[in-house]
Amino acid sequence: MNFNYLAKKYGTPLYLYDFDHFKNQYLKLKEAFAGRKSIISYAVKANSNLSVIKHFASLGSGADCVSIGEVKRALLAGVNKYKIIFSGVGKRDDEIKEALIKDILMINVESEAELARVEAIAKELGKIARISIRVNPNIDPKTHPYISTGLHENKFGVDIETAKKMYIFAKKSEFLNPVGIHFHIGSQLTQLEPIKEASAIVSDLVRSLKAIDVDIKFFDIGGGLGIKYKDEKLIEPYDYAQAILSTLSGLDVTVICEPGRFLVGNGGYFITKVLYEKVNADKRFVIVDGAMNDLIRPSLYKAYHKIEVLNENNEKSKANIVGPICESGDFFAKNIEVPKTNPGDLVVIYSAGAYGFTMASNYNTRPRVAEVAVENEKERLIRRRETFEDLIACEIDYLV
Ligand code: LLP
Repeated sequence: MNFNYLAKKYGTPLYLYDFDHFKNQYLKLKEAFAGRKSIISYAVKANSNLSVIKHFASLGSGADCVSIGEVKRALLAGVNKYKIIFSGVGKRDDEIKEALIKDILMINVESEAELARVEAIAKELGKIARISIRVNPNIDPKTHPYISTGLHENKFGVDIETAKKMYIFAKKSEFLNPVGIHFHIGSQLTQLEPIKEASAIVSDLVRSLKAIDVDIKFFDIGGGLGIKYKDEKLIEPYDYAQAILSTLSGLDVTVICEPGRFLVGNGGYFITKVLYEKVNADKRFVIVDGAMNDLIRPSLYKAYHKIEVLNENNEKSKANIVGPICESGDFFAKNIEVPKTNPGDLVVIYSAGAYGFTMASNYNTRPRVAEVAVENEKERLIRRRETFEDLIACEIDYLV
């Protein structure tokens, strides 16, 4: 990837996406499940640019969505509606209604109260809602507590006993069709054992549901496969698939998996530019034009992202890489060895394809940056840089 050329052409800060990497990751995972009915439903929240979703849709991917906005994005990008899943702990009535009208594969229900709402809305519409239930298997995924979701202390899903009750209720309802089961224990998973354990627990539940005539067709294992930010030892897609499949013996189900980070994380680069350097008492700061509003992972999770300064300078020392926002939390890295910089030097932040742009904000009235796709060595702009006018477009009262 020619960072210098692309930064010059599109300006900085900038997100760059390697669409070939995205494709390879998708194919690797799809192949891992070969020989078994499977759907990969890309977790749109990781990177919801329409061109990114379209790229996956063209490979046959479905979409895992967490708001009606994401469902609409998926449909607009050409995802097959029967591969779209709508999850989330707090769906509004209007979102449920629209999802039912759009006739997507299934709504993933996360509480008894929500199941009652889905039933009522389906009845109003004279439809039968295909649903799955998110089960919380109470497994510690051994990842960052903010992105761990499969423990009872988390807000997600319902416990096994409640799930059973809900399936029996759904089975009896004229307006509900329980077709799937779902679990997702966390993100950036690097250990196989918790996934396998969760899958075993949930597949046992599927067996006991079959015994009472609830015929589960879709076994949705969520997302969560980790990627390399630094020196993590990763789960191989093949081992992942084998671990899941080993828990499914005797069950005729389609496996759905919802990867986000695995598909797009390592194929994204955030490119920013040095504005100044300054030294305070004993600290050196490299001040760049990108900031926490563009990529919040380091500030929010103390996440590590590899950083490279593109210059030939061999004289290195420790520095904090910081942005222009009025917060001490506005940093990309602290105390890392970097060369002496000059204004205009490019700084590349790696592994920024997932939860980068989608978590960006306009804090400090900073326009969100441009996004560029690189595919077959050709680049194209897939989202233009926002302007000041874009930022104020929804504010309507100040003129009167
Ligand atoms: N399915 C469900 C139900 C999820 O909640 C998530 C992510 C995924 C799939 C996709 O997970 P992935 O394959 O990307 O790990 N903002 C955080 C990550 C939050 C993940 C939320 N749920 C970060 O930047 O690390």
